[in-house]
Amino acid sequence: MKWDRQHVISVEQFDGEDLRRIFLMAKGMEAILNVCRIVREVPGGLLSPSYVMCTLFCEPSTRTRVSFEMAMRRLGGSVISTSDARAQSSIAKGESLADTIKTLTELSADVIVLRTSDSGMAERATECTNVPIINAGDGTNEHPTQALLDVYTIQQELDRIDGITVGLLGDLKNGRTVHSLTKLLALFNDVKVILISPDGLGMPSEVLEYLDQRHVSYSVTDDLRGSVEDLDVLYVTRLQRERFGSPEEAQRHEGTSAVDTGLVRMMKHNSCILHPLPRVNELTPNIDLDPRAAYFRQVRNGLCVRMALLKMILTE
Ligand code: NCD
Repeated sequence: MKWDRQHVISVEQFDGEDLRRIFLMAKGMEAILNVCRIVREVPGGLLSPSYVMCTLFCEPSTRTRVSFEMAMRRLGGSVISTSDARAQSSIAKGESLADTIKTLTELSADVIVLRTSDSGMAERATECTNVPIINAGDGTNEHPTQALLDVYTIQQELDRIDGITVGLLGDLKNGRTVHSLTKLLALFNDVKVILISPDGLGMPSEVLEYLDQRHVSYSVTDDLRGSVEDLDVLYVTRLQRERFGSPEEAQRHEGTSAVDTGLVRMMKHNSCILHPLPRVNELTPNIDLDPRAAYFRQVRNGLCVRMALLKMILTE
């Protein structure tokens, strides 16, 4: 076991045994959520309400923030939320993130969930506090809890991860979820990764080096149709418009990769389609009823994985 049960900053903190434990706990949480729905209370109080999670989100979010907040509440803990920290916290007055983190520490937060637009900021936040920090996305760098729930979803959908072929589609340069997911997949045996992106939006060289060092087999292409029949998992991402210098620059890459019914027809019957969401136009809604479309089940799995992580961080 590599993970020290404190901060979650990068997927590089985890080994296979950590994933096994987190996923086992997440599976248990799934059962607990089902009981919660019937009895309307947390069975056995998994976490005392005296545990308080603070969320500090400096970038937009629906799923990640609500998922963390719901996870904490479903465990029985409490939540204090700052969802638009750039406008509504003292960061808007010019306070540094370090001072904000120190303040939440003095105010006795038990865990801080942080989303920033600067790569490396989550790591730097750990230097100003002994309160566990969970990275909910730092710029274009990483989104480790998303990758955990992505891999958990693959396990749930396919019942295996070793030996599969995963196609990652879209803006692989700026998408932080694909950086974390690619690195996490390197923990498994014989996984093949096909990186499918438009010209200029390829996977950063650091991530490719990470794969090379771990002898993970990967290929790089811009041909989605030519690769789709081989895939066990198609992981689709949106163009990260907000990361481009101007709307015009982002526009140049618009509409380059749409997954529609024609394409899904070419996929294996026992494959699955994932997306971290939000989707814009890269996945047409008329594939949502296809049994291989797993992206809303993926959201649900995120709740279970985050409940597991919070429980492990706060009580183990
Ligand atoms: C992702 C993110 O914020 O990186 N969203 C999420 O957390 N599920 C993906 C995205 O915004 O494209």
